[in-house]
Amino acid sequence: MKRTKVIDALKRTDFGSEITVMGWVRSKRGSKGIFFIALNDGSTIKNVQIVGEDQHFDEETVKLITTGACLKVVGTLVESPASGQASEIQAKEIEVLGECDNTYPLQKKGASWEYLRTVAHMRPRTNTFGAILRIRHNMAMAIHTYFHEHGFYYFHTPLITASDCEGAGNMFQVTTKNLYDLKKDDEGKIDYSDDFFGEQVALTVSGQLEGELGATALGQIYTFGPTFRAENSNTPRHLAEFWMIEPEMAFYDKQDLMDLEEDFIKYCVRWALDNCRDDLEFLNKMVDKTLIERLEGVLKEDFVRLPYTEGIEILQEAIKNGKKFEFPCQWGDDLASEHERYLVEEHFKKPVIMTDYPKEIKAFYMKLNEDGKTMQGTDVLFPQIGEIIGGSVREESYDKLMAEIDRRGMETEKLQWYLDTRRWGSCPHAGFGLGFERLILFVTGMQNIRDVIPFPRTPKNCMF
Ligand code: 4AD
Ligand code: MG
Repeated sequence: MKRTKVIDALKRTDFGSEITVMGWVRSKRGSKGIFFIALNDGSTIKNVQIVGEDQHFDEETVKLITTGACLKVVGTLVESPASGQASEIQAKEIEVLGECDNTYPLQKKGASWEYLRTVAHMRPRTNTFGAILRIRHNMAMAIHTYFHEHGFYYFHTPLITASDCEGAGNMFQVTTKNLYDLKKDDEGKIDYSDDFFGEQVALTVSGQLEGELGATALGQIYTFGPTFRAENSNTPRHLAEFWMIEPEMAFYDKQDLMDLEEDFIKYCVRWALDNCRDDLEFLNKMVDKTLIERLEGVLKEDFVRLPYTEGIEILQEAIKNGKKFEFPCQWGDDLASEHERYLVEEHFKKPVIMTDYPKEIKAFYMKLNEDGKTMQGTDVLFPQIGEIIGGSVREESYDKLMAEIDRRGMETEKLQWYLDTRRWGSCPHAGFGLGFERLILFVTGMQNIRDVIPFPRTPKNCMF
């Protein structure tokens, strides 16, 4: 089917030429025998205006041009007398490819986010979700381009795994067994020997452990894929299925790691400003009036680099001065999102890379500092979002890593392959994980993570 995409139609200036466009009716209005259709085909946030005279079309066809209907329009490209658009199309033929009656769930403008989640299969057709999803695509392209240009290899890590990278026990099990009739041993434990993989396996929470195998061979790699967490966190920042980008680099120390985290995020934000202008302007107008200003702001700032211990001191000082937090923040506590946001939004008013966390609140693989108490973590905290990146230098010493694994009572047999990186030719290395949807939240100004992925998976919700 020969057609001009709306994005290209709007750029054309060969007025008088014939043009064919196809798309969905956003709105139709008419007066004095003339009708105007705003047609959108998803190629851009902008609609092309179709102008037709009632007398040239049969009444039945005109009646079927309703909000949501899909049309093929053949007409003449003309200069538009209306302001805000250079061209429009004078319709000669209109074919209704798909009718749309008044049960269409996106009839009315201004539907709530909650309502739109119940029709997530249709919401990509709204202006806002169109903008978000085009930006999401662009961010994926930015990420691949960044790493490719910086000599990182795209490394594919498995989704089904027997190891719990973060050690938090939030994994979704994968089995082909009949759950109503499980084989158990004498102690009543499930016997996995006759399950598909012959052992207990689950969906991955992170590709990092396998990513480290890639980095200690190829030098620097990144993963970009879905990850799964069965945490019962009903928050605007958590999904049960989310996408993560995990670069891992041999011969990186903490300084190198923080520099990469900052440069990488800024590159993505700049990419959005350079390549998603129309969609950002739309979101800036409709969703968050300070969006573009905030994105530009991040590019100008040097991120603050703040050891956890100093962060706690700032929070304690704030409490002394009357600031109220819901959760405690003594040295040793994991920071809640309210603490992170206080530091970023109120105290420093710019992104913060927090470093050197107490080892008790972080994962087993992080490099221990000389003090024996803190680990070389490097999380990036962002305005509106809180933690957007979790990263660390990795413990490269076999003995120290083993000691930590033992201390935590983890099963060493299952991690032998991982420990082999430290057994043979171990090297200093580091890496981080960026939550893709949290990046999209920041770049779009949206408030809820359920609204920046086409089909969100959250506790008690696996629709579509
Ligand atoms: O901090 P996390 O748990 O770190 C890791 O998984 C490391 N293995 C990463 C690495 O060093 N290679 O997760 C990394 C990021 C978080 O900072 C957050 O942005 C995002 O993943 N994230 C989530 N995003 C949406 N929903 C959830 N439930 C998330 N959990 C983590
Ligand atoms: Mg984290």
